[in-house]
Amino acid sequence: MKIPGPPTTFLVGHLPLLAKYGPDVLRVFAKEYGPIFRFHIGRQPLVIVSDPELCREVGIKKFKDIKNRSIRSPTSGSPIHEQGLFLTRDSRWSSMRNTIISLYQPSHLATLFPIMQSHINSLLDNISSTKQDEDIPFSDLAIKMAIDIIGETAFGVQFNLLKELSNEHQIKDDNVTGFLKLHSDSIESLKMDLNSSFSTILGLLVPILQSPCREILKRVPGTADYRMYHTNQKLCEKIDAIIEKRLKEKTEDCNDFLAVVLNARESGSGKKLFSYDYVRALTYEQLLAGTKTSAFTLAMTVYLVSEHPEVEKKLIEEIDSVLNGDVFPTADDLQCKFPYLDQVVKESMRFCVVSPLVARDTSKQVEIGGYLLPKGTWVWLALGVLAKDPKQFPEPDVFRPERFNPNCDEEKKRHPYAHIPFGLGPRACIGQKFAIQEVKLAIIRLYSTYIFRHSPKMRSPLELEYGLVLGFKHGIKLRAMKRHV
Ligand code: HEM
Repeated sequence: MKIPGPPTTFLVGHLPLLAKYGPDVLRVFAKEYGPIFRFHIGRQPLVIVSDPELCREVGIKKFKDIKNRSIRSPTSGSPIHEQGLFLTRDSRWSSMRNTIISLYQPSHLATLFPIMQSHINSLLDNISSTKQDEDIPFSDLAIKMAIDIIGETAFGVQFNLLKELSNEHQIKDDNVTGFLKLHSDSIESLKMDLNSSFSTILGLLVPILQSPCREILKRVPGTADYRMYHTNQKLCEKIDAIIEKRLKEKTEDCNDFLAVVLNARESGSGKKLFSYDYVRALTYEQLLAGTKTSAFTLAMTVYLVSEHPEVEKKLIEEIDSVLNGDVFPTADDLQCKFPYLDQVVKESMRFCVVSPLVARDTSKQVEIGGYLLPKGTWVWLALGVLAKDPKQFPEPDVFRPERFNPNCDEEKKRHPYAHIPFGLGPRACIGQKFAIQEVKLAIIRLYSTYIFRHSPKMRSPLELEYGLVLGFKHGIKLRAMKRHV
């Protein structure tokens, strides 16, 4: 039986439909063809799944046959991307994940409270130094805060991006600026649009030619492939310098991400599993996977709360009643004393899913939803479509945190895998608890002192940018008003 889907155009597949409908294309097709359908990005066929039960089938029930991720054409052949947890495959992936998982458990995350709090305080310093009728570039500040936090928790490096902003006398570290510029250029090269490198576009049309083409073009100055290759090479050198410095200093009391991975290298089969190129990719991945995503979630939540005064009121009441004069909660309080904050964050993550597609790849023939998928089929879970399914979320375009109240009918009736912004199963986001801790702590601290309104310069409706994950096309600009508490 053939999986349903729209007719394809020779060579370009469904790319013209993507141009016609824009990012809503999968929602449109899910309505027309049902919860499992074919979609062709150029010559690459995909099977799109947009139903919670089928997601459970792919992500959990049939996990052993769909363990790995499909590799998108911009990252293909790039060691710094392919050797991270996200794209490593099979037994190496499970050994690496099992080794670093302890860093994401609540007991370790609680030790990161002081680091997170100190960078959140720098966010507040920036806000407090802005005049009342001046705009706060909130999404930019959120990303700087997320980078500062990952810098310290993963690399043991003080990027101090927020401190630099609020303190003119703080000296800019050229090394940090250079490193982060390379990081942002590298992210830019991962986008798939008309500015993509020639080999990336060719990879979409004739996948088999991508690798030889990339090998040639990376040697031809002036091409996007050349720029991409050299940016990633320089990025590797910068991360290597951080790793080498750490190895020389051998700081015993350090327990950041890099320290744990380097320690694992010293034990048993560690040297083979964590060879330097894997250590480098895993460490860099913290920055790649853990900054834009968390910053988007924070900025989106504050943006949405700012235009819903009834939500803002309930949220502030909860924060004031738990904090009782303190500025931050304890780890235990954060866990269980903020049920409404929990609903607000969940609803914000549903309202706009920062990572709307989860890519998996079948390692043998497998049956999904009654269809036989051959080995090597790319199966993508459409989390963005799932989040706007009116059967699971009535009035899906309304922002209503109460729909996640555990006592309400909507929540009780909902499929357990309808809301999965962090993916699902053994391959779900490893940084979920880290991100939630950071976002919740920041919201609590922000609303204990301020309320926010959209700047008159904010464009409506909000325009999003579709890259590796979602971003804001024109940023989130807010005005802050000090609360009188
Ligand atoms: C709001 C913030 C975040 C969101 C929405 C998010 C979302 C996701 C999603 C959807 C996946 C794919 C899951 C799947 O295939 O089922 C993923 C994987 C991953 N995320 Fe996150 N993420 C966030 C924050 C973070 C943070 C803070 C880190 C690290 C510090 C991180 C590191 C990773 C890694 C390493 C993977 C690959 C896991 C594996 O393959 O085993 N993420 N994330």
